[in-house]
Amino acid sequence: MSKIFLLCFLAGLLLLVQAHEHDKKIRFYELKRGDFRLNLTNYGATIISVITPDKHGKLADIVLGYDSIDSYKNDAVYFGALIGRVANRIGGAKFTLDGKTYKLPANDHGNTLHGGARGFSDVVWSVKSHKKRSHVTFTYVSFENEQGFPGKLKVSVTYMLIGTRELGVRMIAKPVDKATPVNLAQHTYWNLGGHNSGDILSHIVQIFGSYITPVDKLLIPTGEIISVKGTPYDFLEPKKVRSQIQEGLYDMNYVLDKSFQKHLSKAAVVRDPVSGRKMELWSNQLGLQFYTSGQLNATKGKDGAIYNKHSGIALETQGFPDSVNYPYFPSQIVKPGEIYKHNMLYKFTAR
Ligand SMILES: *[C@@H]1O[C@H](CO)[C@@H](O)[C@H](O)[C@H]1NC(C)=O
Ligand SMILES: *[C@@H]1O[C@H](CO)[C@@H](O)[C@H](O)[C@H]1NC(C)=O
Repeated sequence: MSKIFLLCFLAGLLLLVQAHEHDKKIRFYELKRGDFRLNLTNYGATIISVITPDKHGKLADIVLGYDSIDSYKNDAVYFGALIGRVANRIGGAKFTLDGKTYKLPANDHGNTLHGGARGFSDVVWSVKSHKKRSHVTFTYVSFENEQGFPGKLKVSVTYMLIGTRELGVRMIAKPVDKATPVNLAQHTYWNLGGHNSGDILSHIVQIFGSYITPVDKLLIPTGEIISVKGTPYDFLEPKKVRSQIQEGLYDMNYVLDKSFQKHLSKAAVVRDPVSGRKMELWSNQLGLQFYTSGQLNATKGKDGAIYNKHSGIALETQGFPDSVNYPYFPSQIVKPGEIYKHNMLYKFTAR
């Protein structure tokens, strides 16, 4: 009798939990100012498309993505998503904080990648406000021990239109009860020729970072911080992606030169000589992950597009990878009462 009661009780509880999950509907949110248009979704606080004109005024969508939410749910490459609680890799899928060791999901060859098996890119965010001509704000409350991380964390991201063709991204996180690592990142793949225009190998890239944090075979930092001088990673002057390394295959964290916690500084510039589109990226972060999508392989995208290796460039401002395990890397630990603030500014032009 009591067993049946318990079963009924648990089933009821499960239904309640599911109903609560379903409360948060997955929807699309448009931002639009003139011929500059974005489409976003609260699934993963994701950028689905960014439409801008080329030098002739011809519009194209310059963001890699999918046609359906189901594809975003099955995605393995984080198209357009907001990554957290800790973007990038954590070696050995664990870290120690205040004397306690935290074990995380090992979703990448024994290491943790992009917040674990179900990070912020795979949850449905709430929508706090949306004004088509100005901004959309997504919020998420990460619960204690979600993907193994300590304490509850309140997160918000605002995508806002600025001027004629600028996009601001403001990420904020506040730990409620425990200190926790926080490292959020925006993971859009850009192709300034248009998302289905082929590879980005002839894009010209400039990165304002004189140092990198080299990695081992599994992309975990070795702990060194080395100069880019004389290496294929030197993009201090604008260079074609293809010009330097193993057919343009990059996946590396740069230490940005002029990064100050509170102020924006220029992190990178990308230009496509064919369409004339240029994207400047400004940020207040210390690091920038430069990734030329070596993993893409016949990925089915929007409008029938097929994305292969080098179809897009990701420029993810953030802290350094695996900082939780390197005491001399800038700390990503945020304590209750402190506020994590990550700002990005994209400026789009064409000529
Ligand atoms: C945004 O993307 C979704 C999914 O592809 C689509 O259904 C919707 O029409 C798009 N909205 C705008 C304004 O482009
Ligand atoms: C792409 O995927 C196919 C099918 O899984 C595989 O045979 C091929 O080797 C892959 N190509 C690259 C470049 O990884």
